Amino acid sequence: MSEPRVLAIETSCDETAVAVLRGQTLLSSEVASQIAIHQAYGGVVPEVASRNHLRTLKPVIQSALDRAGVALSEIDAFAATSGPGLASSLMIGTSAAKGLAVALGKPFLAINHLEGHLLSPFFGHAEGIQRAVALVVSGGHTLLVEIRGFGDYRLLGQTLDDAAGEAFDKVGKLLGLPYPGGPEVNRMAAHGDPRRIEFPRSMLGSGDFQFSFSGLKTSVRYLLPKLGQYALADVCASFQEAVVDVLVAKTLAAAAATGCRCLAVSGGVSCNTRLREKLKAGCAARGLELLLAAPALCTDNAAMIGYVAALKHAVGESSPLSADINPNLRLASL
Ligand code: KG4
Ligand code: ZN
Repeated sequence: MSEPRVLAIETSCDETAVAVLRGQTLLSSEVASQIAIHQAYGGVVPEVASRNHLRTLKPVIQSALDRAGVALSEIDAFAATSGPGLASSLMIGTSAAKGLAVALGKPFLAINHLEGHLLSPFFGHAEGIQRAVALVVSGGHTLLVEIRGFGDYRLLGQTLDDAAGEAFDKVGKLLGLPYPGGPEVNRMAAHGDPRRIEFPRSMLGSGDFQFSFSGLKTSVRYLLPKLGQYALADVCASFQEAVVDVLVAKTLAAAAATGCRCLAVSGGVSCNTRLREKLKAGCAARGLELLLAAPALCTDNAAMIGYVAALKHAVGESSPLSADINPNLRLASL
């Protein structure tokens, strides 16, 4: 029997994404980004996002099928992100996946977006999912998790206020950079001096695995009247260094505390070149294995949702059609 084909839809925020997998092999992964649309507002406008998902989803499904060389009738299961995210956006993707599942008489799988990010570093990895400390750093979340196996996760810590990506985006906005600020700050920082301004490393010595980034953002705000005294590249590099130092120190401490010899890092902020650099150095010095999701799997995509769906489908799991979206879904609800 041929391996099952899964079609996965991700519409939790502003990316309309569809992927097709055969077993655990990725056949296609399409992402229609709405960044250009939301840039005019300096952030994601939920109503605009859901209207665009509605307009874009059908053609994106078709192009994912075409690229995979698979007909809709050959799909064995339909999956969609059910949370966390924007309610009106989640609704579009899950309704489409449920509708297709009903029409074709195939199972539906509701997938937790956070589990998608969490497991994305293992996608395509020969050894599959292994025991690891995972850092998930995105626009909405900053989590440290101990992965003991598929579906067996222990939350070690998370942010008490802003997520790391949210801090990048808010600081980018304060500095007059286009939305989203993360990649822009990263680009500017490449030419700056990370030691020019000594920003606070919040909760570095707290002895736990919690994070806080709102104080750092406030420090940048206080600097605004004096901004003329500094090169923008230096401000970006110094801010980025403060975020990265805390993320790397806490992740390495979590590895030491749990005895895990592997780090799995994912989410949009894990595209950050300085974070990747410092994680690589930290892991090399301690003999730890570092699994970083490929950049295309770091920011929101449907391939990571399809990967979790394929793993669930393989063990006979599916979701009832009554399974509702949950904008506030947490990893603990897994
Ligand atoms: O995972 P993601 O696409 O969406 C969420 O689930 O939130 O993450 C998006 C976040 C945004 O805050 C964006 O600014 C940030 O990831 N990001 C970056 C970089 N690329 C994306 N932050 C810092 N450096 C980057 N290179
Ligand atoms: Zn995400």
